[in-house]
Amino acid sequence: MSQPKVFVTRQIPQAGLDALLPHVQVEVWPDRLPPPYSILLEKVKQIDGLLCLLTDSIDQAVIEAGRSLKAIAQMAVGYDNIDIAAATARGIPVGYTPGVLTEATADLTWALLMAAARRLPEAQDYIKQGQWQTWEPTLLLGADLVGKTLGIVGLGRIGAAVARRARGWNMRVIYTSRQRHPGEESTLGVEYVSLEQLLAEADFVTLHPTLTEKTYHLIDEPQFELMKSSAILINTARGSIINPEALSRALKQGKIARAAIDVTEPEPLPVNSPLLTLPNLIVTPHIGSASEQTRSLMALMAAQNLLAGLRGEVLPHCVNPEVYQQENYQLKKNV
Ligand code: DGY
Repeated sequence: MSQPKVFVTRQIPQAGLDALLPHVQVEVWPDRLPPPYSILLEKVKQIDGLLCLLTDSIDQAVIEAGRSLKAIAQMAVGYDNIDIAAATARGIPVGYTPGVLTEATADLTWALLMAAARRLPEAQDYIKQGQWQTWEPTLLLGADLVGKTLGIVGLGRIGAAVARRARGWNMRVIYTSRQRHPGEESTLGVEYVSLEQLLAEADFVTLHPTLTEKTYHLIDEPQFELMKSSAILINTARGSIINPEALSRALKQGKIARAAIDVTEPEPLPVNSPLLTLPNLIVTPHIGSASEQTRSLMALMAAQNLLAGLRGEVLPHCVNPEVYQQENYQLKKNV
């Protein structure tokens, strides 16, 4: 029996390919940039399994074009680029990679928080521009962390890992979330508040919700009005949780002190974006999970999800497990 065909939309860490290669015919998109949408639409017609990334638009048309598609495996914990309803309607399970990137993303959140608090990029530019002539009592003064209030929006895995790290700075940690987490409230010592209270009281606000219609531009003009003028805003979740124009105005007008974002709207941020001219904004190119170990684990987990789907087994990490109850889900063994 011929092996199932799989399309991998970019070069991924070898651990993922090594897991796939003995079992399936793999085609890897060779370019640095994602396959254009028209190519994705063509490729999907010829494959049984798709291993995709958050840069691929897996919309209804792509899913419907994949007539023999049996599983989709996204190499990310977020899947807002995939039309899950369309996949479910066709009985196609969709895999994702929760858990393995939690610590790396929480680490980057703290790296950004501290870099913004202590103005590290400004300090480096200062030296590179030849301005360092002496030690100065009021040079590049930043913000303290110890004893301050950290506000976490979204207390999922990553939000909780960020909260755990705050203990080292003896911070008061408040959070807001779709639902309360009584377990974490006692184990992590975090306090549930409304979004409004969080924005008004936090010295540092860090965003960790999933991007949905409800969280799209969750942080907009009125929310910046509520924040302290000394506040620092961090986003390592999805760019569209913040309205970028409102962010730009808030930073220019001193409604908040500084921000550090790993995710942007749009993504990638054009090099001529006005945001990049702001001295009180740090931007990194969506590298929250970018450690060698984490990316290898993500690739491996995505490959394992895909192989399970092609074998007709339940995906170890499935976004839409309801497909298994549907009549149009075919437990067709391929591998
Ligand atoms: C994700 O997994 O959703 C991140 O944004 C990339 O690692």
